[in-house]
Amino acid sequence: MHLLITAGPTREPLDPVRYLTNRSSGKMGYALAEAALAEGHEVTLISGPVTLPEPAGVQLVSVETARQMFEAVQAHLSSAQVAIFAAAVADYRPAITSTQKIKKQSETLTLELERTEDILGSARSLFGFRGYLVGFAAETEKLIEHAQDKLARKGCDLVVANDVSQPGIGFDSSENAVTLCLPGGETHVLPQQSKAALAAEILRFVTHRLI
Ligand code: CTP
Repeated sequence: MHLLITAGPTREPLDPVRYLTNRSSGKMGYALAEAALAEGHEVTLISGPVTLPEPAGVQLVSVETARQMFEAVQAHLSSAQVAIFAAAVADYRPAITSTQKIKKQSETLTLELERTEDILGSARSLFGFRGYLVGFAAETEKLIEHAQDKLARKGCDLVVANDVSQPGIGFDSSENAVTLCLPGGETHVLPQQSKAALAAEILRFVTHRLI
């Protein structure tokens, strides 16, 4: 099977030395890539800037911005049977990227931000992806409700819901606990464990649904 996986944060430049980003380490997406490779699958990993080693045998596409990730996904999605969007893509970017370093002037500085491309939301509608589509939902409240809503709005087969208000799991940590949300309101809780163990479970779940 061929999987496309997005991972890590994106960086949205303000000027040549500054950018907006988030706390994603890329660990969950990389763990999914490692798990898929270990099962003998072909993996295209589209990754934002992370400090993790490149998984052996992966087809790695390194990107920085949401726009670059969007373009990379567009270019590689049609050959995949499964697409897992684990990246923490910035929802907004600076409306203007200054070509010169922004100098201190007034006491306050207001930044105007504009929406980035919704990559997961484009998979079905714009890219015409017909394979198994997995999204992630990082929420601080109403976890299942928001995840089920995302599942329906973006045409996902599965949303991996992540309660990011819980300390010690999720963003930037090596452990996580998630709830798998499926169409029709079906849910499966995967309790706290290493991201490697969780990735193997998620992958097993997906492959069982496909055979
Ligand atoms: N995602 C994406 N492109 C974006 C933003 C998010 O592909 N520009 C993907 C992430 O990889 C993840 C899921 O969408 O799989 C996370 O969705 P989120 O940004 O939380 O979705 P929204 O429905 O926009 O929800 P919110 O209102 O919480 O931002």
